[in-house]
Amino acid sequence: MTPFDGVGLSEACSRNVVFFKRCQSTNSEAAALAAEGAASGTLVVADAQSGGKGRLGRSWVSPPGENLYFSLVLRPSLPPEQAGLLGLACAVGVAEALDLGIKWPNDLLDPERRKIAGILSEMEVDKGAISHVVLGVGINVNQVQFDAALPQAGSLAGLRGPQDRGQVLARCLAAIEHRCQQVERSPDAVLDAWRSRWLDRGREVQADACRGIAVDVGTDGSLILQTDQGLQSVFAGDVAPVSGDALEPASAQ
Ligand code: BTN
Repeated sequence: MTPFDGVGLSEACSRNVVFFKRCQSTNSEAAALAAEGAASGTLVVADAQSGGKGRLGRSWVSPPGENLYFSLVLRPSLPPEQAGLLGLACAVGVAEALDLGIKWPNDLLDPERRKIAGILSEMEVDKGAISHVVLGVGINVNQVQFDAALPQAGSLAGLRGPQDRGQVLARCLAAIEHRCQQVERSPDAVLDAWRSRWLDRGREVQADACRGIAVDVGTDGSLILQTDQGLQSVFAGDVAPVSGDALEPASAQ
């Protein structure tokens, strides 16, 4: 079993890991390090977060001793408009490492559509160029009891039994970095891999105010819906299937 501390994780991930027993948010810590000049590839991991951040201003419940909360600093040579691709690439990496499906834009779901992992991508732009991107990943690893307010949450342990968090982290990190590096030289390969794990392709979905058939994802990371008014792109929000047995609350963590 990998010791869940800075030394154990640095060894498992073959790099120096900035480790916190508890911090407010690994994304905030990673952004602060990036602002001080931290190199691309800097990794921040916490055993617990007191103010874990989710997408769309939500919080990410982050109890100690069970799950993974980590943030990766990247300094890509990409125009800011294409930064959304890094979030998709991160989702592909986690999906491949853990054999999960993807719900747009970057939720990782099990076959019962329980949410196992989520990604929060945050970017800093300076004079029109990306100065850094922080990819924050939360994975429910060994947690088996969830708050009643999170009926759609699941975990790797619930799916496959208890896991070694250090090994899960090392596997995810290798896959995330591989896919993120691909974004600059062959973005189509990343998008194809994302599409091949996309759970809602061809389904009718509700994306906030917009309802339509989910037909594709754009090179800017947007969701493309075929609606009664024609093709529409959705850039942010929550997506849920309209029919079938997979209805889910939009606020699932
Ligand atoms: C989502 O809403 O699905 C995204 C959740 C992202 C949570 C992770 S946990 C590690 C990192 N630090 C944060 O504060 N948030 C991300």
